[in-house]
Amino acid sequence: MPPPPPPFTDPDQATDFIRQFHHERPAAGGPGPRLRAVLDEIDRTGSYRHTPAELTYGAKLAWRNAARCIGRLYWRSLVVRDLRHLTEPDDIAAECFEHLRLAGNGGRIRPVVSVFAPDRPDRPAARILNQQLVRYAGHRVGGDVDGGDVDGEDLVGDPAGAALTARARELGWKCAEDRFEVLPLLIQQRPGERPVRYEHPDDTTLEVPLLHPDHAWFADLGLRWYAVPAISDMTLEIGGVRYPTAPFNGWYMGTEIGARNLADADRYDMLGTVAERLGLDTSSDRTLWRDRALIELNVAVLHSFQEAGVTIADHHTESERFLKHVAQEARLGRPTPADWSWIVPPVSGGLTPVYHRYYDPVDPALRPAFVPREAW
Ligand code: ARG
Repeated sequence: MPPPPPPFTDPDQATDFIRQFHHERPAAGGPGPRLRAVLDEIDRTGSYRHTPAELTYGAKLAWRNAARCIGRLYWRSLVVRDLRHLTEPDDIAAECFEHLRLAGNGGRIRPVVSVFAPDRPDRPAARILNQQLVRYAGHRVGGDVDGGDVDGEDLVGDPAGAALTARARELGWKCAEDRFEVLPLLIQQRPGERPVRYEHPDDTTLEVPLLHPDHAWFADLGLRWYAVPAISDMTLEIGGVRYPTAPFNGWYMGTEIGARNLADADRYDMLGTVAERLGLDTSSDRTLWRDRALIELNVAVLHSFQEAGVTIADHHTESERFLKHVAQEARLGRPTPADWSWIVPPVSGGLTPVYHRYYDPVDPALRPAFVPREAW
């Protein structure tokens, strides 16, 4: 007889997590009885349900384990919304919008994760197709529109949003083809099923128009960015249970916007425009015109968020906080695996203390974790 298929949820993963939970939270009374109950539930049903305390702690551990994240000092403060009873796209969309309101908090950004129903043996969970709950569209347009050139076509907006924009338009999205147009949420309940489209209510998309403290012309560039980076295309995996619909956010570090989203050649690609307005000599790389434009763009991002009363961190402060986190974890006898190439900021790396050292090695099998979501 062939061996029976392995259970849907790996009992070893479940065991590791329940042990870790009780090890780090001795007040919970020891793993014994809970471990037996969990293994029995997996035996009977193929999977198991986390208690609310396990879900909350598991989500915080997934943040603490995120090797690419510089912002982990505050992992204990994560607000975990237990929405596991929700499986319908309408309900998921409504709670994603509520997530944005809670996380945006009038500008005082709070780290939040909203956990919807997990994949179950009999039923995969619904998926949010967007990369983030708020992201800008990228419109491919013909003709002489002022925009970036992608594959010989003009692109208006954020190239990183182009695929989802095409999908939303197929689903009937009527858009203005603006440069900073918030994409609707697309939620798909089953593989192959037509996704449902939801437009953001106005009070969910806090945005900041960008100004420069010393250059009045900067405002005329018409640049802006949203306040809450909420990743919605990763699976939260805790103790062998997969939550593919678990959007989470922190607050921005300025360089993510100023040195990547608005600067990268395959994103908004603004350095040439900024350099020209600054009157820089762009005839040679050696004048460092890109570097100078980059710094002014980053000054504008930090200044504008600050003036608008929206939480944002600069890379110097966030680097110091990260090393404080590493030291704090070491005192507790725990490693802090970290990916140097993601932790070091994309400007002025050597000016920040995180540049000048190495970190504990990254183990891709470490759990709980936010992992790339597999296709259906
Ligand atoms: N880098 C991404 C962006 O610019 C966001 C990633 C998460 N960032 C964060 N600060 N939590 O949209």
